[in-house]
Amino acid sequence: MSELLMPKVQARIAAMGSKGTTYDDKTVIDLVFKRYQENCERKGEPLKPDKAFVDTIISNLKVFIFAGHDTTSSTICFSLYQLSKHPEFLAKVREEHDAVFGADPLAAPALLLEHPHKINETPYTLAVIKETLRMYPLAGTFREGSDETVLHADEGGAPVSTAGFDLIDGVWELHYRPDLWPRPYDFLPQRWLVGEEDPLFPVPYSWRAFEHGPMNCIGKDLALLEIRLVLVHVARRYDFETAWEEWDKIQDYTEANIDRLRGDLRTRK
Ligand code: HEM
Repeated sequence: MSELLMPKVQARIAAMGSKGTTYDDKTVIDLVFKRYQENCERKGEPLKPDKAFVDTIISNLKVFIFAGHDTTSSTICFSLYQLSKHPEFLAKVREEHDAVFGADPLAAPALLLEHPHKINETPYTLAVIKETLRMYPLAGTFREGSDETVLHADEGGAPVSTAGFDLIDGVWELHYRPDLWPRPYDFLPQRWLVGEEDPLFPVPYSWRAFEHGPMNCIGKDLALLEIRLVLVHVARRYDFETAWEEWDKIQDYTEANIDRLRGDLRTRK
Protein backbone atom coordinates (compact mmCIF):
# COMPACT_ATOMS: atom_id res chain seq x y z
CA MET A 1 0.00 0.00 0.00
CA SER A 2 2.75 2.40 0.96
CA GLU A 3 4.49 1.74 -2.34
CA LEU A 4 1.31 2.56 -4.24
CA LEU A 5 0.49 5.66 -2.24
CA MET A 6 3.95 7.19 -1.92
CA PRO A 7 4.31 8.38 -5.56
CA LYS A 8 0.96 10.18 -5.30
CA VAL A 9 1.96 11.87 -2.07
CA GLN A 10 5.35 12.83 -3.51
CA ALA A 11 3.73 14.27 -6.64
CA ARG A 12 1.50 16.40 -4.40
CA ILE A 13 4.50 17.55 -2.36
CA ALA A 14 6.34 18.50 -5.55
CA ALA A 15 3.34 20.52 -6.78
CA MET A 16 2.75 22.24 -3.46
CA GLY A 17 3.42 25.91 -3.54
CA SER A 18 3.97 26.05 -7.31
CA LYS A 19 2.09 28.76 -9.07
CA GLY A 20 -1.27 27.60 -10.35
CA THR A 21 -1.56 24.64 -7.94
CA THR A 22 -5.17 24.28 -6.99
CA TYR A 23 -6.66 22.07 -4.32
CA ASP A 24 -9.68 19.88 -4.66
CA ASP A 25 -11.72 20.20 -1.48
CA LYS A 26 -13.26 16.79 -2.13
CA THR A 27 -10.16 14.60 -1.83
CA VAL A 28 -8.55 13.65 1.48
CA ILE A 29 -5.01 14.15 0.20
CA ASP A 30 -5.72 17.66 -1.08
CA LEU A 31 -7.45 18.67 2.13
CA VAL A 32 -4.29 17.70 4.02
CA PHE A 33 -1.94 19.60 1.74
CA LYS A 34 -4.12 22.65 1.57
CA ARG A 35 -4.21 22.88 5.37
CA TYR A 36 -0.46 22.18 5.60
CA GLN A 37 0.33 24.96 3.13
CA GLU A 38 -1.97 27.41 4.93
CA ASN A 39 -0.31 26.60 8.27
CA CYS A 40 3.21 27.03 6.86
CA GLU A 41 2.27 30.34 5.26
CA ARG A 42 0.70 31.59 8.48
CA LYS A 43 3.78 30.67 10.51
CA GLY A 44 6.21 31.87 7.80
CA GLU A 45 7.77 28.37 7.58
CA PRO A 46 9.10 26.75 4.39
CA LEU A 47 6.98 24.15 2.64
CA LYS A 48 9.15 21.16 3.52
CA PRO A 49 7.21 18.21 4.89
CA ASP A 50 9.44 15.95 7.01
CA LYS A 51 9.34 12.14 7.09
CA ALA A 52 6.99 12.04 10.09
CA PHE A 53 4.49 14.20 8.20
CA VAL A 54 4.68 12.01 5.08
CA ASP A 55 4.31 8.83 7.17
CA THR A 56 1.26 10.32 8.88
CA ILE A 57 -0.35 11.12 5.54
CA ILE A 58 0.30 7.61 4.25
CA SER A 59 -1.14 6.08 7.45
CA ASN A 60 -4.25 8.23 7.21
CA LEU A 61 -4.76 7.39 3.55
CA LYS A 62 -4.52 3.72 4.45
CA VAL A 63 -7.10 4.16 7.22
CA PHE A 64 -9.49 5.82 4.78
CA ILE A 65 -9.06 3.05 2.23
CA PHE A 66 -9.35 0.35 4.88
CA ALA A 67 -12.32 1.94 6.66
CA GLY A 68 -14.19 2.86 3.49
CA HIS A 69 -13.75 -0.10 1.20
CA ASP A 70 -15.05 -3.39 2.53
CA THR A 71 -17.65 -1.71 4.72
CA THR A 72 -19.32 -0.08 1.74
CA SER A 73 -19.02 -3.03 -0.64
CA SER A 74 -20.33 -5.50 1.95
CA THR A 75 -23.33 -3.25 2.68
CA ILE A 76 -24.08 -3.27 -1.06
CA CYS A 77 -23.97 -7.09 -1.04
CA PHE A 78 -26.16 -7.39 2.06
CA SER A 79 -28.68 -4.89 0.65
CA LEU A 80 -28.94 -6.87 -2.58
CA TYR A 81 -29.17 -10.09 -0.61
CA GLN A 82 -32.07 -8.77 1.45
CA LEU A 83 -33.82 -7.42 -1.64
CA SER A 84 -33.42 -10.80 -3.33
CA LYS A 85 -35.11 -12.43 -0.32
CA HIS A 86 -37.93 -9.85 -0.23
CA PRO A 87 -39.40 -9.33 -3.72
CA GLU A 88 -42.09 -7.05 -2.23
CA PHE A 89 -39.42 -4.58 -1.04
CA LEU A 90 -37.47 -4.91 -4.28
CA ALA A 91 -40.67 -3.97 -6.14
CA LYS A 92 -40.97 -0.84 -4.01
CA VAL A 93 -37.35 0.11 -4.68
CA ARG A 94 -37.88 -0.34 -8.39
CA GLU A 95 -41.10 1.65 -8.27
CA GLU A 96 -39.27 4.49 -6.54
CA HIS A 97 -36.49 4.48 -9.14
CA ASP A 98 -39.02 4.47 -11.99
CA ALA A 99 -40.80 7.45 -10.43
CA VAL A 100 -37.64 9.49 -9.85
CA PHE A 101 -35.45 8.54 -12.81
CA GLY A 102 -37.98 7.50 -15.47
CA ALA A 103 -38.87 4.06 -16.73
CA ASP A 104 -35.59 3.42 -18.58
CA PRO A 105 -32.92 2.20 -16.10
CA LEU A 106 -30.19 2.98 -18.62
CA ALA A 107 -31.17 6.65 -18.59
CA ALA A 108 -30.51 7.06 -14.85
CA PRO A 109 -26.72 7.66 -15.01
CA ALA A 110 -27.04 10.60 -17.43
CA LEU A 111 -29.96 12.05 -15.50
CA LEU A 112 -27.98 11.83 -12.27
CA LEU A 113 -24.99 13.54 -13.83
CA GLU A 114 -27.21 16.42 -14.82
CA HIS A 115 -29.29 16.49 -11.61
CA PRO A 116 -27.18 14.86 -8.85
CA HIS A 117 -29.57 16.03 -6.12
CA LYS A 118 -32.18 13.60 -7.47
CA ILE A 119 -30.47 10.86 -5.49
CA ASN A 120 -31.99 12.50 -2.40
CA GLU A 121 -35.46 11.75 -3.74
CA THR A 122 -35.05 8.05 -2.93
CA PRO A 123 -36.12 7.70 0.74
CA TYR A 124 -37.26 4.11 0.32
CA THR A 125 -33.85 3.08 -1.03
CA LEU A 126 -32.21 4.80 1.94
CA ALA A 127 -34.57 2.96 4.30
CA VAL A 128 -33.46 -0.35 2.74
CA ILE A 129 -29.82 0.57 3.30
CA LYS A 130 -30.35 1.70 6.89
CA GLU A 131 -32.26 -1.47 7.71
CA THR A 132 -29.48 -3.50 6.08
CA LEU A 133 -26.94 -1.72 8.27
CA ARG A 134 -29.09 -2.41 11.32
CA MET A 135 -29.07 -6.14 10.59
CA TYR A 136 -25.46 -6.22 9.40
CA PRO A 137 -23.57 -3.47 11.22
CA LEU A 138 -20.17 -3.90 9.66
CA ALA A 139 -17.91 -2.04 12.00
CA GLY A 140 -17.80 -1.63 15.73
CA THR A 141 -15.66 0.65 17.76
CA PHE A 142 -14.22 1.10 21.21
CA ARG A 143 -13.21 3.86 23.56
CA GLU A 144 -10.68 4.07 26.33
CA GLY A 145 -12.34 3.81 29.73
CA SER A 146 -11.71 6.44 32.39
CA ASP A 147 -12.72 7.45 35.89
CA GLU A 148 -15.24 9.85 34.36
CA THR A 149 -17.04 7.00 32.59
CA VAL A 150 -18.68 4.76 35.17
CA LEU A 151 -21.03 1.80 34.89
CA HIS A 152 -24.20 1.47 36.94
CA ALA A 153 -25.65 -1.99 37.52
CA ASP A 154 -29.41 -2.31 37.01
CA GLU A 155 -29.74 -3.67 40.56
CA GLY A 156 -28.06 -0.59 42.01
CA GLY A 157 -24.83 -0.61 44.02
CA ALA A 158 -21.75 1.55 43.70
CA PRO A 159 -20.80 2.76 40.22
CA VAL A 160 -17.80 0.99 38.71
CA SER A 161 -15.02 2.98 37.08
CA THR A 162 -14.03 1.93 33.56
CA ALA A 163 -10.46 3.23 33.94
CA GLY A 164 -7.98 0.67 32.61
CA PHE A 165 -10.55 -0.95 30.32
CA ASP A 166 -11.43 -0.59 26.68
CA LEU A 167 -15.16 -0.22 26.12
CA ILE A 168 -16.58 -1.95 23.07
CA ASP A 169 -19.84 -0.60 21.69
CA GLY A 170 -21.50 -4.01 21.15
CA VAL A 171 -23.37 -2.79 18.09
CA TRP A 172 -24.64 -6.24 17.05
CA GLU A 173 -26.31 -6.79 20.42
CA LEU A 174 -27.75 -3.28 20.39
CA HIS A 175 -29.18 -3.66 16.89
CA TYR A 176 -31.01 -6.86 17.84
CA ARG A 177 -32.41 -5.76 21.21
CA PRO A 178 -36.17 -6.41 21.05
CA ASP A 179 -36.91 -3.59 23.49
CA LEU A 180 -35.34 -1.15 21.00
CA TRP A 181 -36.21 -2.89 17.75
CA PRO A 182 -39.57 -4.69 17.60
CA ARG A 183 -39.23 -7.84 15.46
CA PRO A 184 -35.44 -7.46 15.42
CA TYR A 185 -34.84 -10.47 13.17
CA ASP A 186 -37.20 -9.21 10.47
CA PHE A 187 -35.93 -7.03 7.66
CA LEU A 188 -38.36 -4.10 7.79
CA PRO A 189 -37.36 -1.03 5.76
CA GLN A 190 -40.60 0.65 6.87
CA ARG A 191 -39.09 1.22 10.33
CA TRP A 192 -37.27 4.13 8.75
CA LEU A 193 -40.36 5.70 7.21
CA VAL A 194 -43.00 5.50 9.94
CA GLY A 195 -43.94 8.32 12.32
CA GLU A 196 -43.02 8.60 15.99
CA GLU A 197 -46.35 7.14 17.09
CA ASP A 198 -45.58 3.83 15.35
CA PRO A 199 -43.99 1.12 17.55
CA LEU A 200 -41.51 0.46 14.75
CA PHE A 201 -40.18 4.03 14.94
CA PRO A 202 -36.46 3.73 15.82
CA VAL A 203 -35.54 4.78 19.36
CA PRO A 204 -33.17 7.77 19.10
CA TYR A 205 -29.46 6.81 19.23
CA SER A 206 -30.17 3.08 19.04
CA TRP A 207 -28.90 2.82 15.44
CA ARG A 208 -25.11 2.89 15.71
CA ALA A 209 -23.94 1.63 12.29
CA PHE A 210 -21.62 4.62 11.99
CA GLU A 211 -21.51 5.28 15.74
CA HIS A 212 -22.35 8.67 17.22
CA GLY A 213 -20.63 11.78 18.43
CA PRO A 214 -17.50 13.68 17.41
CA MET A 215 -15.54 10.48 16.62
CA ASN A 216 -18.22 8.93 14.44
CA CYS A 217 -17.55 7.69 10.90
CA ILE A 218 -16.25 10.49 8.73
CA GLY A 219 -17.33 8.62 5.59
CA LYS A 220 -20.96 8.13 6.63
CA ASP A 221 -22.55 10.45 4.09
CA LEU A 222 -20.23 9.31 1.32
CA ALA A 223 -20.98 5.65 2.04
CA LEU A 224 -24.75 6.16 2.09
CA LEU A 225 -24.54 8.13 -1.14
CA GLU A 226 -22.38 5.51 -2.86
CA ILE A 227 -24.65 2.64 -1.86
CA ARG A 228 -27.75 4.54 -2.95
CA LEU A 229 -26.12 5.23 -6.32
CA VAL A 230 -25.17 1.60 -6.79
CA LEU A 231 -28.71 0.46 -6.01
CA VAL A 232 -30.16 2.99 -8.45
CA HIS A 233 -27.83 1.63 -11.13
CA VAL A 234 -28.43 -2.08 -10.57
CA ALA A 235 -31.75 -2.73 -8.82
CA ARG A 236 -33.86 -2.46 -11.96
CA ARG A 237 -31.35 -3.96 -14.37
CA TYR A 238 -30.56 -7.20 -12.61
CA ASP A 239 -32.22 -9.89 -10.53
CA PHE A 240 -29.95 -11.11 -7.76
CA GLU A 241 -29.83 -14.47 -6.07
CA THR A 242 -27.37 -16.21 -3.81
CA ALA A 243 -25.35 -18.89 -5.55
CA TRP A 244 -23.17 -20.50 -2.90
CA GLU A 245 -23.66 -24.00 -4.27
CA GLU A 246 -22.69 -22.97 -7.78
CA TRP A 247 -19.76 -21.03 -6.35
CA ASP A 248 -18.58 -24.06 -4.36
CA LYS A 249 -18.82 -26.22 -7.46
CA ILE A 250 -16.39 -24.07 -9.40
CA GLN A 251 -13.90 -23.79 -6.54
CA ASP A 252 -10.93 -26.08 -6.32
CA TYR A 253 -10.91 -27.12 -2.65
CA THR A 254 -8.39 -29.93 -3.09
CA GLU A 255 -5.53 -29.90 -0.61
CA ALA A 256 -3.03 -29.47 -3.43
CA ASN A 257 -4.76 -26.27 -4.53
CA ILE A 258 -5.10 -24.93 -0.98
CA ASP A 259 -1.35 -25.53 -0.47
CA ARG A 260 -0.67 -23.73 -3.72
CA LEU A 261 -2.75 -20.72 -2.62
CA ARG A 262 -1.01 -20.64 0.78
CA GLY A 263 2.33 -20.68 -1.01
CA ASP A 264 1.22 -17.76 -3.22
CA LEU A 265 0.27 -15.78 -0.14
CA ARG A 266 3.58 -16.46 1.56
CA THR A 267 5.63 -15.38 -1.44
CA ARG A 268 3.51 -12.30 -2.14
CA LYS A 269 5.26 -9.14 -1.00
C1 HEM B 1 -21.20 1.29 5.11
C2 HEM B 1 -20.01 1.86 5.21
C3 HEM B 1 -19.34 2.24 6.49
C4 HEM B 1 -19.59 1.86 7.78
C5 HEM B 1 -20.67 0.91 8.28
C6 HEM B 1 -18.64 2.55 8.62
C7 HEM B 1 -18.61 2.45 10.01
C8 HEM B 1 -17.68 3.10 10.80
C9 HEM B 1 -17.64 3.04 12.24
C10 HEM B 1 -18.63 2.27 13.12
C11 HEM B 1 -16.60 3.77 12.65
C12 HEM B 1 -16.14 4.00 14.10
C13 HEM B 1 -16.63 5.36 14.56
C14 HEM B 1 -16.36 5.60 16.00
O1 HEM B 1 -15.34 5.15 16.52
O2 HEM B 1 -17.18 6.28 16.65
C15 HEM B 1 -15.94 4.31 11.49
C16 HEM B 1 -14.82 5.10 11.49
C17 HEM B 1 -14.21 5.59 10.37
N1 HEM B 1 -14.66 5.50 9.08
FE1 HEM B 1 -16.31 4.51 8.47
N2 HEM B 1 -17.83 3.32 7.83
C18 HEM B 1 -18.23 3.18 6.53
C19 HEM B 1 -17.71 3.81 5.43
C20 HEM B 1 -16.64 4.66 5.44
C21 HEM B 1 -16.10 5.37 4.30
C22 HEM B 1 -16.69 5.32 2.88
C23 HEM B 1 -15.01 6.06 4.72
C24 HEM B 1 -14.04 6.96 3.98
C25 HEM B 1 -14.07 7.22 2.72
C26 HEM B 1 -14.85 5.79 6.13
C27 HEM B 1 -13.86 6.32 6.91
C28 HEM B 1 -13.77 6.16 8.26
C29 HEM B 1 -12.67 6.69 9.06
C30 HEM B 1 -11.47 7.47 8.53
C31 HEM B 1 -12.95 6.34 10.38
C32 HEM B 1 -12.13 6.69 11.61
C33 HEM B 1 -11.10 5.66 11.89
C34 HEM B 1 -10.32 6.03 13.13
O3 HEM B 1 -10.91 6.51 14.11
O4 HEM B 1 -9.12 5.83 13.09
N3 HEM B 1 -15.87 4.96 6.54
N4 HEM B 1 -16.64 3.90 10.37
